[in-house]
Amino acid sequence: MKKAFILNDVALLFVLLLLGGTLQAQVAVQHKLSPVDKAKIDSLMNQMTLEEKLGQMTLFASGWDVTGPVVGTNDKKLIMEGKVGAILNAYTVDYVRDLQRMAVEDSRLKIPLLFGYDVIHGHRTIFPIPLGQSCSWNLKMIEDAERVAAIEATAEGINWTFAPMVDIARDPRWGRVMEGSGEDTWLGCKIAAARVKGFQGNDLKANNTLLACAKHFAAYGAPQGGRDYFTVDISQLTLYESYLPPYKACSDAGAGSIMTSFNEIAGVPSTCNKWLLTDLLKKEWGFKGFVVTDWTSINELVNHGVAENNKDAARISLNAGVDMDMCGKTFLDYGTELLKEKKIGMDRIDEAVRSILEAKAMLGLFDDPYRYCDKSRQEKEVMTPDHLSLARKMVSESCVLLKNPGHMLPIPEKAKTIAIIGPLGDSRKDMLGSWSAAGKWEQSVTLLEGIKNRTGDKTEIIYEKGCNTNDNDRSGFEAAVKAAVKADYVILALGENSWMSGEAASRTSIDVPGVQNELAEVIVNTGKPVVVVLFNGRPLAITKLARQPVAILETWFGGTQAGNGIADVLFGDVNPSGKLTMTFPRNEGQIPIFYNVKNSGRPYNPADSGAKYVSRYLDGPNDPLFPFGFGRSYTSFIYSNLAASVDGHKINITVQVANEGEFDGEEIVQLYIRDKVGSITRPLKELKGYQKVLIKKGETKTIAFSLTTDDLAFYHPDLKKYWEPGEFMVFVGTNSAETLSTSITVE
Ligand code: NOJ
Repeated sequence: MKKAFILNDVALLFVLLLLGGTLQAQVAVQHKLSPVDKAKIDSLMNQMTLEEKLGQMTLFASGWDVTGPVVGTNDKKLIMEGKVGAILNAYTVDYVRDLQRMAVEDSRLKIPLLFGYDVIHGHRTIFPIPLGQSCSWNLKMIEDAERVAAIEATAEGINWTFAPMVDIARDPRWGRVMEGSGEDTWLGCKIAAARVKGFQGNDLKANNTLLACAKHFAAYGAPQGGRDYFTVDISQLTLYESYLPPYKACSDAGAGSIMTSFNEIAGVPSTCNKWLLTDLLKKEWGFKGFVVTDWTSINELVNHGVAENNKDAARISLNAGVDMDMCGKTFLDYGTELLKEKKIGMDRIDEAVRSILEAKAMLGLFDDPYRYCDKSRQEKEVMTPDHLSLARKMVSESCVLLKNPGHMLPIPEKAKTIAIIGPLGDSRKDMLGSWSAAGKWEQSVTLLEGIKNRTGDKTEIIYEKGCNTNDNDRSGFEAAVKAAVKADYVILALGENSWMSGEAASRTSIDVPGVQNELAEVIVNTGKPVVVVLFNGRPLAITKLARQPVAILETWFGGTQAGNGIADVLFGDVNPSGKLTMTFPRNEGQIPIFYNVKNSGRPYNPADSGAKYVSRYLDGPNDPLFPFGFGRSYTSFIYSNLAASVDGHKINITVQVANEGEFDGEEIVQLYIRDKVGSITRPLKELKGYQKVLIKKGETKTIAFSLTTDDLAFYHPDLKKYWEPGEFMVFVGTNSAETLSTSITVE
């Protein structure tokens, strides 16, 4: 075992001061209140009655876009009485202005409302689902997309988004994997921070930035069996190491709010977890925003069995650190009684109210409550050509080429008749994917349209649906086969309907549903070249499909510009560069499956395939169908000359990547490490860096990475994070499985 590297006390203090300083500085950018705002808040706090304070801590749903039980929906009387702090699911300037007017003209203290909405992957211009976006590994583009989402949402009255969703997820049965950035914590943190920055910009008072809400705190992405809303039970070390960092990244990036998760962790539901909400988040991390619950998750504490009734639930969640109740109305209903009975304290209420008023001040709502109600912006700044072109570019960067035997893609010029076959080939309703905010599915571009837009009259395009997405009707097979026979190239559009992923959309089987595999088989049997275009909100277990001699392009749900962006890739205008951020299993039996696993005392060695008493399955391989980081290109990248050296606390790594194929292309060069011997076990590989680089056909580039010893640190059983000297493996490659490796010793 190696000796632990521990900083001496003086050095530690210095480092902490330094880190603390940077952290405070970052947070301060977003959370700085002007003296005028401070005075305004102090004066309101002095004037507010208890009921008005409890009202600020209450979030009601308008009747639009309901995803749970509604308590006191749209209760306008309560707004006028100053007993509502925020509204969700209300947008468009007229509607928001009307509700805001009741708050600032008819209520006693004229405190403006927050307007929250699930702006998850765009507002009107819908971008690819977040899981798809993450496959671009393009942080700048992700930030830009959130900027566009913020511009459009604020043009329609919204000033608070329930995003980013930063739950690490390693179980594709869980429908909400589509909302996150996949399985890797390191990448998840980078994307989380980029999203917060995109939403909040540099100035929350600008009329086109909105308050972010990191969610779902914490570990909502690890429900047992992949079943939504279900129990989470993970070790404390795994929680610290894998699940908590993305929420912390949002807090450090200045996110203005955070949402509690529905689940429990080790017996304590997040909504009443004092350690999580107060000790860790507010005290240790120094989170400066406010804590909102998820939809009626206070009331649900009764079902969890930790509260006798709603009143009891209000007591424990308020005391745990919740500041605002989403849709449960428990603070308003029971706060007064609870205070009289001394079961909650005025200090806690004041702290909660102040944090909410601060958010309103930071958004500039006290200066101008109608700041986000500018009709001319609603007309001019929504779905602009620039927004649509960014969305289109993002579709093509999110696509992941899973297979391309015999260079079937890009579609050759000589293909004069193309058949598009499959239930998702012209399915406008499915292009946006789940959580599509105010996006109108009628305005989305289908695959058929995208292809027609690209080919014009030069090519004959035939379309046959073949079958539905999720039933047993094979009556369309015959016509589909006829279409394939007539064509000289076939595009098979298969996958899930958009409602098959998202909230409350877990699946036990994650194969392509219905009879789509059979459709693929009969079409392949025609002998025509076939490319499968997949639409789905989660990794699918497409083992059967992948055995067919077809090319497969993963496109997720691309949003408003889906068809155009996919056509850009299919015809080679864009060379695909996306890489999976979630592992694709061979079958459901392998789940949970992710790349950064630990070794076993009895590891399986594929070279010794007869071995019995080793960590393996009897009926299938351990390795996935497609690993984390996987994605092919139309060109071939060859890696060579990996070198790593240590210079004090710096680690320098270089590798050469040559483009030896026929196309210019972007490659995401990935860097992983492994701590060979630790005081506790460490993952076989951990992502520590990447670079997305354009390498021209025939060109070789030297890619350099630089790490410091801090990048080698990990949490120990005492929850301290530090690195241990010794030998480290360094891997660089095109995905987490195909890498070159070398080793270094760091003292
Ligand atoms: C429930 C979801 O879990 C959460 O993510 C969402 O923000 C709220 N509903 C509001 O729609």
